[in-house]
Amino acid sequence: MIASLPSTDTVLVTGCAGFIGSHVVEELLRSHNAVVGVDNFSTGRMENLANVIEDSRFSIQRTDLTDTVAFRRVLEQVRPSAIIHLAALVSVPQADRDPDYNFRINIEATHVLAETAAKLGVRRIVMASSAAVYGDAHQGALHEDLMPCPLGRYGAAKLISEQILAVAARVGGASASCLRFFNVFGPRQDPSSPYSGVLSKFVDLGRQGKALTIFGDGEQTRDFVAVRDVARACVAAALESEARVEIANVCTGAEVSLNSIATMIQRLVPDLPAPVYLPARENDIKRSCGNPDRARTWWGFEAKAPEKALQDFLVGALGSSGSPNWCDRLHKDAA
Ligand SMILES: NC(=O)c1ccc[n+]([C@@H]2O[C@H](COP(=O)([O-])OP(=O)(O)OC[C@H]3O[C@@H](n4cnc5c(N)ncnc54)[C@H](O)[C@@H]3O)[C@@H](O)[C@H]2O)c1
Repeated sequence: MIASLPSTDTVLVTGCAGFIGSHVVEELLRSHNAVVGVDNFSTGRMENLANVIEDSRFSIQRTDLTDTVAFRRVLEQVRPSAIIHLAALVSVPQADRDPDYNFRINIEATHVLAETAAKLGVRRIVMASSAAVYGDAHQGALHEDLMPCPLGRYGAAKLISEQILAVAARVGGASASCLRFFNVFGPRQDPSSPYSGVLSKFVDLGRQGKALTIFGDGEQTRDFVAVRDVARACVAAALESEARVEIANVCTGAEVSLNSIATMIQRLVPDLPAPVYLPARENDIKRSCGNPDRARTWWGFEAKAPEKALQDFLVGALGSSGSPNWCDRLHKDAA
C-alpha cells in the first residue's frame, strides 16, 4: 500500500493540451487536485484547455519533452506526487517515417521521466500505452497476457516504454500503470490530421454534408472507448493507494464496425450521400477488441456501453452543425 493522495497534492500531466490530456486535466480538477500541465503545443491546442485555464489550481509549462535538460528541470521544480504521461508522437505512419524522433519522444522521454521520478520519489506514474502493442497476430478479445506483436515503430515504442516504467517503478517501490487505450473518441479530437481517429473524420464529413469515405468493405471493427471514460481510468490509476506495477487495457470489450457507425450517422443526417468505399489500406487491422476485465477488477473501471456512448457523441457533435433542421431531428432521435 502507498498512502492515498491528498487532494491538495500536485499531479503533473504531460500532453495536457491534447485531446485526451485536456479531459484528464478536467477530471483531476473534479477530484480537487492541483495540476501542472506540460506541453509543447505541437498537436495540442490552448482552446482544448478553455474549461480549466482560469482555474487557480491549474498551470501550464510550455516545454518540449525531447529537450531532456528542460524536461528534467520541470520535474525537479514541480516535484509532483503523481505523473500522468500522455505526450507522444501519436501518428503511426509518422513514427515509421521518422524513427529517430519516435525514439526521442516515445522512448527517451519516458526514460527521462522514469529515472527522474525515481530520484524525486514520485510514487505514482500512469502512462498512455496503446492497443498497437498487440499488432494483428491474435484472434478474439485481446488480453494483457498475450504476446505483444507491434506492427510498427509506434507500437514498439509504447511496448518499450511500458517496460522502462515497470522496471523503474518495481526497483523504486513505486506504482506504475501502463494503460493500453483502444480507439478513443469524443470532443476535441482533431479531424484535420490525416491520421486522426475515424470517428472525428466521419463527424467532420457529416457536418459538411459530404459522403463518408470508408477504406475496404467497412466491416473492420474497433473497440471505441469514450474519452471521458479514458480520463476517469487515468485518474483512478493515478490516485490509487496500491503500489502496483501493471499493464491494463482501457476498452469496452465490444466491437463496432465502421459500417454500423456510418449507418448511425446516416440516420442522424438523412440527406447525407451514401458512403464512398475506397481500396483497403495496407496494414489496416481487420478486427480490434480488448478484454476490459483487468481494469475493472483493479480500479472498478467500467466504460459506457459503446452504442450509447457513440450515439451521445454523434448527437452532440452533429447537433452543433448549425442547421436547425438537423438539430431538431437529432434531438428527436436521441430522446
Ligand atoms: N487517441 C487515441 O485513440 C489513442 C489510442 C491509444 C493511445 N493513445 C495515446 O494517448 C496519448 C494522448 O493521445 P491524444 O490522442 O490525446 O493525442 P494528441 O496529439 O491530441 O495529444 C498529445 C499531446 O502531447 C503533446 N506533445 C507531443 N509531443 C510533445 C513533446 N515533444 N513535448 C511536449 N508535448 C508534446 C502534443 O502537443 C499534444 O498536446 C498518446 O500517448 C497516444 O499515443 C491515444
